[in-house]
Parts: sequence; C-alpha cells; structure tokens
Amino acid sequence: MNTAREPFWWRDAVIYQVYPRSWQDASGDGVGDLAGIRSRLDHLVELGVDVLWISPFYPSPMKDFGYDVSDYRGIDPLFGTLADFDALLAAVHARGLKLLMDFVPNHSSTEHPWFIESAASRQSAKRDWYLWRDAAPDGGPPNNWMSSSGGSAWQWHAPTGQYYFHQFLPEQADLNWRNPKVRQAMLAAMRFWFDKGVDGFRLDVVYHAIVDDRFRDDPQNPTFDPAVQPSFSAVVPTWSTDRPEVMPLVIEPMRQLADDCGERLLVGEIYLPPEKLVRYYGSPTSAGVQLPFNFQLVFADWRAAPLAELIRRYEALIPAGEWPNWVLGNHDQSRIASRIGTARARLAAMLLLTLRGTPTIYQGDELGMTDVDIAPGRVRDPWEKNMPGKGEGRDPMRTPMRWDARPHGGFCPDDVEPWLPMGEDVDTVNVAVQRREPGSPFALHRRLLALRRERRSLGLGDYGTIEAQGDALVFERVHGAERTLVVLNLGTSTCTPKVPATARTLCTASGGSVHPVDGRLELDADEGAVLEVPASG
Ligand code: GLC
Repeated sequence: MNTAREPFWWRDAVIYQVYPRSWQDASGDGVGDLAGIRSRLDHLVELGVDVLWISPFYPSPMKDFGYDVSDYRGIDPLFGTLADFDALLAAVHARGLKLLMDFVPNHSSTEHPWFIESAASRQSAKRDWYLWRDAAPDGGPPNNWMSSSGGSAWQWHAPTGQYYFHQFLPEQADLNWRNPKVRQAMLAAMRFWFDKGVDGFRLDVVYHAIVDDRFRDDPQNPTFDPAVQPSFSAVVPTWSTDRPEVMPLVIEPMRQLADDCGERLLVGEIYLPPEKLVRYYGSPTSAGVQLPFNFQLVFADWRAAPLAELIRRYEALIPAGEWPNWVLGNHDQSRIASRIGTARARLAAMLLLTLRGTPTIYQGDELGMTDVDIAPGRVRDPWEKNMPGKGEGRDPMRTPMRWDARPHGGFCPDDVEPWLPMGEDVDTVNVAVQRREPGSPFALHRRLLALRRERRSLGLGDYGTIEAQGDALVFERVHGAERTLVVLNLGTSTCTPKVPATARTLCTASGGSVHPVDGRLELDADEGAVLEVPASG
C-alpha cells in the first residue's frame, strides 16, 4: 500500500469489514466490543488487509443493532468508551492499518435528543430537522412510500397529530438534509471523528438521504406478489430514493470536508444498477464518493460469460480517473459460501482479490463461513420479525467470528451464551485450524493478498483481455512489463482454456498444482489459477 501522505492510498488497499457485535467479546457479555477488536488486530495483519471498516458502535437503543444512532459523537457502553476507541485507533495505526467508521446520515434513532426535541411540539425549533407531514384526507399516511424494514414509511405521532417519515424502522426517523442546520450538525459530527484521526467513513444508505420535496407517490410495482415478496417491493422507489439533490446537498459537502481533512476515504452504500451507481463518483464539477459500493457480485450469475460481460460493462461505465471496487457480501447479505457453495466461494475470493479495484472482505468469509440456521426463538433481527419468511432476516450472516475450536469459538467465554448461535462447524471452520491447513480458505486468502502486494499488476494494473472461454473466465492484469493471468473454471466439469505456453502458476483455488501443457491449462470444476506471464510469453 502507498503511504498515508500519497493521494489515492485506498486504491491498492484491501478493506475488511468487522461487525462489532460479532468479532470478539472482551467484556464477557456475549456481544463483541472495541477492546475485543483491539485484541484481534493481528489477525488482519496476518491475513494481509489494509483497512478496517467497523459497523456502527455509537450510542444506540440497538433497535437496528447500532444503525439507530442516538449520539453521533459517542460510543455505546456495550462496545466500550471513547478511551477504548482512542486506544483502538492508535493500535490500528501502529500496525500501519487504516480505520473506517460507519456513518449513518439518513436517519437517527428516535431517542436522539434532536428527534425528541423535534417531536415535542409542532412549534419546536427542531421540528424541521425531520420530515413531518399531515395525514392524508382519509387519515392515512401522507403518501404510499414504503419502509425497507417492512410496512409504510410513515409513523403516526398522536401527541402532535402528524406523521413522521422513516425509510427503515419506525425507531429510525429520517433526517431532513434540506435543512442547512441538519447539514451543519452532521458534518460537525463527521469532523469530530476526522479530528481524532479516522481515515474515512462508509456512508450508510446515503442514496436515501434526500426525498422528493413534493412527496409524490411512488409508482406501483405491476409485478408485485405479496405472497413471496417483502412489502417494500409493492412500489418502485422513484421519488423516495436516488434523488438528484443528494449530490449537492449531502455528498458534495461530505467530500469537501473529507478532502479538507486530507485524503480521507468515503465509501457509499448505494444499492443501484451500475448505470445509476457510477453517478455517485461525481463529475468534473461536483465531487462524489471515491468508492460507491459496487454490489454486482452479490447478485451475479456465476457463469463465465455473464461475469465477463458484467466486468466489461462496469469498467466501461466508470468515469475517467475514477477507481472501481468489488464486494462479495456484508452483514445484510447471505454469505457467499451459502449463495454459491463452499468450493465455488474459493473462486469468488480469487476473483474478488484479482479484479481491478478496491476489494472489501466481510469478516468470516476468509474462513468460508456459511449462513447459520437461526431457531425461531433466537431471531434477533427486526427485519425477520417484521417480514417473516421473506428471506429478509440478517441474523444468519451475523453470527460470531470463530477463532478456535472452543465451544463458542473463542468469541466469548465458554460459559457465556453468544448473542447469536455459533453454528455447527465451529470445530473445523475457525482461524486456529485453518492457519495450520495449507489448503484452507484462510490460507488461500493469505496467498492471494500476498500476491496483490507483490504484484503491482494485481494492485494497480489495467486489464488486458477479459473473456469467457467456454466455462472459464479468463482475464489478464497488466502493469508495465508485468502480466498476471487469472483463469477460473465456473463450470461443473473439467475445462482446458488456452493460456500462453510460458505462463507459470502462482496460486490455485484448491491449493493443488496445475500447470499449462501445450498452451492449455486443465482445470477441474471450481478450480482456478493465478499465473504470471513472462514478458516474452
Ligand atoms: C444499511 C445497513 C443495514 C441497516 C440499514 C439501515 O443497509 O447496512 O444493516 O439496517 O442501512 O440503517
């Protein structure tokens, strides 16, 4: 990685996401915390990543496990204290790593003092800090906007006789970013952390932060099937998300602040198709986020031809001078090993870590963790409670990290019940076991991350060819004279793609050995290889 002083330090960096409730519990209450994270930083160094992004740890009533913030400048006692945070940041920097915090601009908790004041009366000085509207003539909600957490996006507030707007839980009220005082207060909160030395933010659902100022109804979704789809699919969120004013009113001022503080990174959580997503990079006259999260691999068709097309299309859309990024999963999505199988998840790791762009690894994916079945009595996620059986529950991918083969994987003391169950395979899928196995997913991640550091073609190079040869996805990365070839068999039988005769294998997905013979590489199903191509090859 480049040094902190150089611009674009994040381009050849690798981000690792920690969900703080589930990484390491130091206090012994069955929930992870900041001291726990500090005690496990060497895992990140051993793995070979550069940037730690931690999901929210601000004071919160924990209705959405921290994405309902009641103080943007503090630490929830569950996770520790500001002193614990300072110690963590210092320890991160001492290891040459960077720290990204999560910032939740779209909404605050309804227990935030701002909302309490706003809800106190219609005349409150902070009334306009949130979005309050009168009822429709029939007494119902002001319009048909739906909440991503289930049901209407409007909550009736009897004491003041109006509805307030919430795109997520009723306990997460949307802030009114059109109000300059809100902008000022939120930017001041970001500055508070920048002044402490935080290296950047991941911006939670930032594309939701502005809604239509005329509150027009969203169009109905003509294909909506309430039997199988969650309630929010009833409408197409045309007026309630991805509004053009989000750039000038929300993102530009944040980017200005980040740049004023000296090359801090902003990553936007933006679930949009690539044509719309790339607008969040900004334009020559308006700066956006450096990395609008590219979630295409979360929803991809894992066959060679569609993947080759997806990569080419995304690359073609990225504005000149901007930089791509890739991610396989996070705390809201079914784990990659559950989506595509544990064998193919190795290929996915190989792809993630060899594509052009900054990758983000979700905690536990380096072990090949799968979603954990959650018994009905142990459901914690309000999305599952609000939309049961619709596949919206997020507990299965939030189960704790496994460090060793102890009953609770070393995540919390053996005699303490972790906040979510550990799952069945803790004895094999854990860090201690996989460190000793040369063929483990952990060993594969380490090898790939080491290769990224050694080879500038992988970290910063351009693409040569990107193609599907039958079931094999084949692409080349090039930097100066250095060429690296990646070949992934995404089919269900052996394939023999053409490769340069002189290519030499550096790493395989299975840990086994494969070598080109007569200009072809024989790869079993779910096998992949990274090869160096000598200059004359
Ligand atoms: C983002 C978070 C998710 C949260 C939601 C509301 O999508 O990743 O966990 O529930 O925003 O803040």
